Amino acid sequence: MKRRFLFFAIVSAALVIGPPAFSPLAYGQQTLDFEPEIPELPHYPPELDIELFWVPEDNPITAQKVALGWQLFYDTRLSSDGTISCASCHLAEAGFADPKRGSVGVGGAVGGRNAPTVINSMFNELLFWDGRAASLEEQAVGPIMNSIEMANTLPAMVARLSRIPGYREQFSAVFDSDEITADLVGKAIATFERTVVSFNSPWDQSQATGDETLISEAARRGNELFNNAAGCAQCHVVTRVDEVPFDLFQNTGIGMDLDEPDLGRFVHSGEEEDRGAFKTPTLRNVTETAPYMHDGSLETLNDVLLFYENGGNSNPWLDEKMKPLKLTEQEREDLLAFLKALTGDVPAFTKRAPPLPPDVD
Ligand code: HEC
Ligand code: HEC
Repeated sequence: MKRRFLFFAIVSAALVIGPPAFSPLAYGQQTLDFEPEIPELPHYPPELDIELFWVPEDNPITAQKVALGWQLFYDTRLSSDGTISCASCHLAEAGFADPKRGSVGVGGAVGGRNAPTVINSMFNELLFWDGRAASLEEQAVGPIMNSIEMANTLPAMVARLSRIPGYREQFSAVFDSDEITADLVGKAIATFERTVVSFNSPWDQSQATGDETLISEAARRGNELFNNAAGCAQCHVVTRVDEVPFDLFQNTGIGMDLDEPDLGRFVHSGEEEDRGAFKTPTLRNVTETAPYMHDGSLETLNDVLLFYENGGNSNPWLDEKMKPLKLTEQEREDLLAFLKALTGDVPAFTKRAPPLPPDVD
């Protein structure tokens, strides 16, 4: 994870990654029947060499592709019965996570894991609580096929979208492809997800400018505790822009007291040391994403702190960094103030559904 160190540099201004290259109405020579709304791309921090490090070479970010992925993210026609979209479980008003403990998919099916936030997911080396997807492109088609989520097949989803002229035209214009394919759907959605970013929290701004007064004194004390006495930074690495932890998967004991616990990373890797280990999640916008943990079992951030004060849930694979903590009331409030200071704004357009291309019979 050498790339992380590139981002320690502190820079002050935000950079505009170019305005949309085309007018909303025209795609090169083509004129579309359906006029997609083309959003303005986010202002990525300048130290983030986004093209080089975080965007696959074969899937560059363009405003038209973001517009297409934005539509697909909010379109229920990707699901088998036309009732569920990505946004049904990743709700903008809940920090792009699910306020329900278990997400409800097609036909009312309920899953055992809480939907994590999509915010800053572009920085995840591996996706899902158990890290079973290696890229946003790969991840995006997973829920479409998952029987308890969108319960569709990829051929059926592709056939459905191919009947919508506005999608056919956009896929052709964006990817220069005669056909809509699942692969291209994944690329478009992943590109939209790379715009669901939070870079301007008060803490980020104080880091970028060196102006400590942008966060409260309590948050500053909380930052210190987080990095030192409370031991949080042994697992959660919060730096400017990126939060990739040193070891991605850790066992904190969440859910391990059940008769048949979710074994997390182990299910995917088969490695003994991965039993009960889950991905260390981002803490950006964490005040918005309750409930917490892979099973959504902790309702508030205060509950999360109490859990850590108890040293997690004892089990044979508990990470050795999980030690009981003694926090005073003031220290607990300071840590909460720090966590609150990590909440910033995501680009406004991402939080609402765009106009969708209509069905034509
Ligand atoms: C029925 C609810 C549901 C729907 C619909 C859904 N998701 Fe999810 N999403 C989840 C759950 C639950 C997880 C965690 C699953 C796991 O880790 O095993 C998840 C995980 C993710 C992650 C991983 C984040 C991380 O940090 O690892 C991303 C990204 C994501 N979903 C994007 C999408 C996209 C894109 C769509 C639409 C194509 C979508 N989701 C549809 C519930 C849903
Ligand atoms: C041993 C590594 C480790 C340590 C130490 C640790 N965490 Fe975590 N943290 C994790 C992992 C792993 C998860 C996800 C656990 C799960 O869902 O099973 C998590 C989850 C969380 C969540 C929930 C986020 C969400 O979206 O659900 C918060 C908040 C959090 N940690 C804050 C803290 C704070 C504050 C501290 C210090 C008091 C701390 N963590 C110490 C590894 C750690």
